[in-house]
Amino acid sequence: MNTAVSGPADYAAAVSRYFPRESFDRARSIISRWPGYQPSPLRSLDGLASALGIEKLYYKDESERFGLGSFKPLGGAYAVTRLLQKIILQRHHFNADPGDLLQGKYADYVGHLTVTAATDGNHGRSVAWGAQRCGCHCVIYIHQHVSKQREQAILDLGASVTRVAGNYDDSVRQAYQRAEAPDWYIIQDTTDGTAAEITLDVMHGYTLMADEAIEQLTDRPLPTHQFLQAGVGGMAAAVLARFWFETGQQRPVTVLAEPTHAACCFLSLSAGRPEIAEGDHPTIMAGLACGEISSLAWEVLKTGAQAALTLADDSVRDCMQLLADRRFGDPAIVAGESAVAGLVGLIAVMKDQDARNKLGLDRHSRVIVYGTEGATDPQMYRRIVGRSAQEVLHAG
Ligand SMILES: Cc1ncc(COP(=O)(O)O)c(C=O)c1O
Repeated sequence: MNTAVSGPADYAAAVSRYFPRESFDRARSIISRWPGYQPSPLRSLDGLASALGIEKLYYKDESERFGLGSFKPLGGAYAVTRLLQKIILQRHHFNADPGDLLQGKYADYVGHLTVTAATDGNHGRSVAWGAQRCGCHCVIYIHQHVSKQREQAILDLGASVTRVAGNYDDSVRQAYQRAEAPDWYIIQDTTDGTAAEITLDVMHGYTLMADEAIEQLTDRPLPTHQFLQAGVGGMAAAVLARFWFETGQQRPVTVLAEPTHAACCFLSLSAGRPEIAEGDHPTIMAGLACGEISSLAWEVLKTGAQAALTLADDSVRDCMQLLADRRFGDPAIVAGESAVAGLVGLIAVMKDQDARNKLGLDRHSRVIVYGTEGATDPQMYRRIVGRSAQEVLHAG
């Protein structure tokens, strides 16, 4: 439990300077004009909710977002378009329409620029997708444990990929260093304070996921709890900020979930200051294998999150199978390794009376989790679930 958690109404003091109302509106207005935009589905898993002993379980399913298989285009590609818009305005003195930008209409203005980022898969894919569509160059840094399939997915979007020694955090440092060259720009989803305005754009884009969920819940009571998986904490902070803004006094109780060996948010909340999870971060949850919390995420989570927990890989495998197998009569869901961590956390808490009591979870609770990716590494998905994503979705 986070002992520094602030009262429900302290939004202004805690985060409004990073997440004002305009930041949510801007993300919605820009991203909703991109070709192919659709809100991701909010699924109600009634069978699993009743098996767990709660009133409602909502699953925001990001597995189809922009055809990229994760929520990530909301952040990285959004920050690419925001950056290019600003550069066009500065250098050419006109406002480029974001929809046109993403359809390559301003490629002549941005074709000499290079965007770069480090990734464990999904963020790099998102930045490469944005760059390819806008018509600028893209170089993505990956670390030694990123799978070949994830690397290939980035190459398929026209980016160059550089594999570096070390872990995710080492690849982030290399990307920041490379971006010091003229006409190179970092689009990173985490920051130690450097290029923080870009990281903030990434997080503003993520808020659309929560914004959509709030809209999809119109006429229904909002969730009492949310379980959010964390890598560097950016997604969790963005979603928490959006809900906090919306609900004030009724802010959902927010619980963070991370792999045992990459638990930088858990360690930081325990210590009351940013802490590093050292080492190689061995886990199948590739998107969460990060050892250093983003300084911007910390600003929100340090007083916004009520609790954090850590997860073993085995519980993740089981949850992916459970969702694919319709084990509780709910529709089949394709969820990747990093997608289910929040839900795994909820399942673990519901089995533990003490944890349940501390978090106030009972048969009146309405919980939202975010299925942040589908089968983004198809080989890994098949190995774990025993079937491909298509087979899961089309099984009778
Ligand atoms: C599928 C998925 N879920 C969750 C996350 C966690 O996001 P963050 O690193 O902002 O905490 C990531 C990050 O890459 C991801 O790829």
